Amino acid sequence: MNTDIAVEDITVQIADEKYLDYVETILNTIADAAKVRGTGIARRSPEYIAQKMKEGKAIIALAGEEFAGFCYIETWGNKKFVANSGLIVVDKFRGHGLAKRIKRKAFELSRQRYPNAKIFGLTTGLAVMKINSELGYKPVTFSELTDDDAFWKGCQSCVNYDILQRTNRKHCLCTGMLFDPAKDEAP
Ligand SMILES: CC(C)(COP(=O)(O)OP(=O)(O)OC[C@H]1O[C@@H](n2cnc3c(N)ncnc32)[C@H](O)[C@@H]1OP(=O)(O)O)[C@@H](O)C(=O)NCCC(=O)NCCS
Repeated sequence: MNTDIAVEDITVQIADEKYLDYVETILNTIADAAKVRGTGIARRSPEYIAQKMKEGKAIIALAGEEFAGFCYIETWGNKKFVANSGLIVVDKFRGHGLAKRIKRKAFELSRQRYPNAKIFGLTTGLAVMKINSELGYKPVTFSELTDDDAFWKGCQSCVNYDILQRTNRKHCLCTGMLFDPAKDEAP
């Protein structure tokens, strides 16, 4: 890693309003990563990310004061589901288990705040699939995920949205993964 800070010194914590100054950096980092990947990462507004922080629903990783990574949680379908979204790790901090730490923290936060909710995520990325599997998520068809229109609206800013529309929300390039607290065991 091309930095003076060892990865174990990076803090991973629940963000609150003290971290609002990082919102722009977070969104720029996500936008740059989306360009590089050329595939679906849903765009979010600064207000949306700021709101997540104010509600204690965001996880931020910092190397000292430098932004290193982020993720947030949100409930859908009357709190029956909680999604972990917007995962990003800054390029130079990748490959050292930071995404794993961030996702684990988001998972713990989801379990704590919404113990009966099913936890899910959509991804095309192998790293995220591996992390989710370790946390006890299983791959599922979209029929098992929330039918909350507001959640699926979030896919509108993805480059693959036409596929989701064409298939009546049944299929797309992302794999849906789900942790059902009634059936699955957390690590
Ligand atoms: C995906 C991303 C968050 C991974 O961050 P990271 O800190 O490098 O991930 P970790 O080091 O915690 O790796 C977790 C696991 O995924 C694997 N992995 C990491 N990057 C990978 C890649 N590009 N391809 C395949 N596997 C990968 C690691 O080897 C590790 O597996 P292991 O447990 O078998 O060792 C980061 O690359 C990123 O921000 N990408 C751009 C944004 C993005 O794709 N977000 C996800 C949207 S769903």
